[in-house]
Amino acid sequence: MDLDLVTRHLEDGICTLTVNRPDKLNALNQQTLQALDQAFAEAAADQRVRVVVLTGAGAKAFVAGADISQMNQLTPVQGRDFSLLGQQLMRRIEGLGKPVIARINGFALGGGLELAMACHLRIAADTAKLGQPEINLGLIPGFGGSQRLLRLAGRAATLELCLLGAPISASRAQALGIVNEVVPADALDARVAELAAQLAKAAPLALRAILDCVLVGGECALEQALQFESTQFGLVFATADMREGTAAFLERRQPEFAGQ
Ligand code: COA
Repeated sequence: MDLDLVTRHLEDGICTLTVNRPDKLNALNQQTLQALDQAFAEAAADQRVRVVVLTGAGAKAFVAGADISQMNQLTPVQGRDFSLLGQQLMRRIEGLGKPVIARINGFALGGGLELAMACHLRIAADTAKLGQPEINLGLIPGFGGSQRLLRLAGRAATLELCLLGAPISASRAQALGIVNEVVPADALDARVAELAAQLAKAAPLALRAILDCVLVGGECALEQALQFESTQFGLVFATADMREGTAAFLERRQPEFAGQ
């Protein structure tokens, strides 16, 4: 497997993963999906990693979609396997148990928007364009896009983006609730670094409990979701970080969370 398809950099608890096919606008072929899946699995297992930043190499694209030249050759069975590979990656990111920030530095189209939507926070440059243009290729979203977009932005926006296939601006994506923040392109690094540093200092087990509550709650009935939240709430009382956080407040000092 060519690990250079995804580069990794770990510093101060922040693991930056960069999809690295800039000459193809970071399009996701099978090998890149596998490299990303492996990189995220390793980030999940590495105790030093407190937060992941996911981005694309070059100034032009986050990820311009699934690899069209590869898809052009697939049989129906291979197409299903390709979809399952992408969906497995998206599920891994969504359920990573550590916050993942999508640094959307340019085009986030098709599989690129699906990838960004599997992340927990999305920060976009004002120059970015987002969309689900599969319909223009006689395709449909296959890495969970029709479902995550529906849950993020509702039926009207999902049908508009998927049926018409036209890219939208970062500011429209923010208005629709698809991205959290839009910043000038030259301020993207600073803002993402600021958010990542904040999350890297936060209590990891409490972060994980929040991520799990939102993930589970999005997929089951309110009654079960509320019970799950209470259980998670109870569990954080078993952490040293909860004692530290509350003590630090009472002692009017900054907490130091150890992830215990
Ligand atoms: N799959 C495979 N290759 C892709 C790709 C994709 N999704 N998106 C871009 N590329 C490749 C182009 O084929 C081109 O390769 P080449 O230089 O070997 O010919 C290279 O990346 C640069 O793209 P190009 O189209 O020349 O850049 P542009 O600035 O003119 O246009 C886009 C940018 C994003 C508008 C255009 O590349 C595009 O529409 N891409 C496809 C988006 C899409 O439909 N994604 C969903 C796929 S399901």
